[in-house]
Amino acid sequence: MIIQREQFMAMFGDPGPQAGGCYLTDVERRVLVALTRHVAPKTVIEFGVQDGKTAACIWAAAPTIKSYVGIDLPQGAAPALASQGTEVPAVPGEAVAGRKGFKLLLQESGTLVPADLPLADLIFIDGGHDYATVKHDTALAFARIRPGGVIVWHDYNAIPEIGVRQCIDELNQTQGDRCTLVQGTWLVFRFP
Ligand SMILES: C[S@@+](CC[C@H](N)C(=O)[O-])C[C@H]1O[C@@H](n2cnc3c(N)ncnc32)[C@H](O)[C@@H]1O
Repeated sequence: MIIQREQFMAMFGDPGPQAGGCYLTDVERRVLVALTRHVAPKTVIEFGVQDGKTAACIWAAAPTIKSYVGIDLPQGAAPALASQGTEVPAVPGEAVAGRKGFKLLLQESGTLVPADLPLADLIFIDGGHDYATVKHDTALAFARIRPGGVIVWHDYNAIPEIGVRQCIDELNQTQGDRCTLVQGTWLVFRFP
């Protein structure tokens, strides 16, 4: 399913410009913040926390957040997609490091099982973009999302090696078109 940006903002509100890092556009940050405010999460999980700037943006949007789990690769690890090699952060989660409630899981997400993660109200999937990793992270997200929570994926696009689109399209074909792309962005969301 696709929702026009204007329709999305009419439904969820436009929070205006948001500070953040280089991985999301301003419109994408607005969408993420609007969804964050909508669910008022207590617990957030971010696959691919990188330098933590998006985590800081999400945290600023929701004073309700008590616990934020960021997942990323240890320095020197090689992502499945060579094109993501330059993304492995020098200091994972730096922008929120030391903040009470922030927990960093420094491991390849494919090694995680549901019991390693808390139940969460907002789960942002933006780690490894290869199909196998997105599929695995998505399965973890469905296992740990709370009722009323939201799962958000980044990088739904037509770049062949990026598996987000295939994963989302398969979900929509088999589970009733419930993942929604915000037009003009690479963000998809679903209320499970
Ligand atoms: C596009 S960046 C994330 C950007 C971040 N979410 C933001 O909005 O600023 C992708 C991140 O995923 C991490 N990553 C790639 N493959 C991973 C994997 N298999 N497990 C955990 N993290 C992974 C990379 O190290 C990188 O930090």
